Amino acid sequence: MAKVKSKWICQECGYETAGYLGKCPECGSWGSLVEEVQYNEKMPNAAANEFVNTEKPELLKDIQIGEEVRVSTNISEFDRILGGGFVQGSLILLAGDPGIGKSTITLQTCGRLCDSGKKILYVSAEESASQLRLRAERLNINSDNLYIYPQTSMDNIKSQIEEIQPDFVIIDSIQAIYSNNVASSAGSVSQIRECTNILMHIAKSKNITTIVIGHVTKDGNIAGPKVLEHMVDTVIYFEGDKYKSYRMLRSMKNRFGNTSEVGIFEMCTDGLHEVTNPNELFLNERSRVAAPGSAIIVTNEGTRPLMVEIQALVGTTSYAAPRRVTNGVDLSRLHQILAVLEKRVGLNFSKQDVYVNVMGGIEVDEPSADLGIALAVATCARDVVVDPQTVIIGEIGLSGEIHPVNNIEKRLNEAAAAGFKKAIIPYANNVPKDFDKLLIIKVKRLVDAIVSCVSAN
Ligand code: TYD
Ligand code: MG
Repeated sequence: MAKVKSKWICQECGYETAGYLGKCPECGSWGSLVEEVQYNEKMPNAAANEFVNTEKPELLKDIQIGEEVRVSTNISEFDRILGGGFVQGSLILLAGDPGIGKSTITLQTCGRLCDSGKKILYVSAEESASQLRLRAERLNINSDNLYIYPQTSMDNIKSQIEEIQPDFVIIDSIQAIYSNNVASSAGSVSQIRECTNILMHIAKSKNITTIVIGHVTKDGNIAGPKVLEHMVDTVIYFEGDKYKSYRMLRSMKNRFGNTSEVGIFEMCTDGLHEVTNPNELFLNERSRVAAPGSAIIVTNEGTRPLMVEIQALVGTTSYAAPRRVTNGVDLSRLHQILAVLEKRVGLNFSKQDVYVNVMGGIEVDEPSADLGIALAVATCARDVVVDPQTVIIGEIGLSGEIHPVNNIEKRLNEAAAAGFKKAIIPYANNVPKDFDKLLIIKVKRLVDAIVSCVSAN
């Protein structure tokens, strides 16, 4: 009988302790420690030990640089965030809310990869083979190279990988897979860590590109541990509003490329379609009539500027403490902008509720959105409109000054291409003298930007 040992492991961050604690000392979550039993003979790192390491240390200058083989997904939005396709033998984590479309995008990618002659093993731990077949028919995927394997045991998966020798392995999802090396149930930190470890060794030793699908918890983390993010080469989030049709692939970590890129898709009845001109999509939602509290900003997501509408609503509060609610913008950013508007412009929000919403369900975390947010709030408070043909770009400092932003020319070109006529930009940003596609208004301070909007009314 194997000697059993138990540990309490935080399901949020992976912190381990010998006894129960109500609060995790590492990440501060309450009630997240779960007892996990482990056999002493085969500890969680058993996976690593199974692979005999024959490598020896080498001098840096002697190391040969192998050619990085990339496999295109034939979906340009996906290739863009990967940095030009999957790197062979890499381990990719695709994370997102349940129901957002992870299985759909993966199956569609499999279809394209099979068309270019790749052999794929799709491990479906959540759906039956016939469910997947139905979905594949809906997506019009019909391939001789795609193996569907409804399985949850890591040992069986490993032996099938050895038998089939695929170019790609898909694990849908990691939370449903278990390994016999660890006694705890599937989805626990130890299981996720162990199974990912095994997959990583298979990927690296056999040069098999592995895509691991993971669900995200309601507070936005990949269910189970953050440890998963450290183990893999690339972390891709699939996000979007479940109640709207478009979705965004965003790379959060990429050992082989840029991390600021986004790929945009639209969910249709026959699967996900690429959106090559996202500005049409986000601006389509904009009401044609100019309204107080609306401003268009130009964010720079990766290599592509995106035009997004910011809406604000300011009204007398009926609460003891006025409400500040944001959707798509960081709340502390709004607090800071309100503080600057109060101190440097003289507006007063102490008895006002302020709501800020980024249209289209997208997240804006770039500081260049500050000025747009401030103008949306200020114009709503003063009941004036920002000219709907104007885009607003600029970061706000605490003394009310407007800081320059990067890639200004690219942003302006994109705004001009989308039919805008005017741009309010930071004074310190240089624009070529012969740039005549837009009327440029340069502002040094927040108050100047507000004055130029008000005077235009
Ligand atoms: P799915 O890929 O199963 O999500 P996940 O794997 O992230 O849990 O996507 C499920 C949703 O997508 C479901 O609500 C139905 C919708 N859908 C479409 O709208 N069109 C389609 O062609 C497909 C396959 C799914
Ligand atoms: Mg799924």
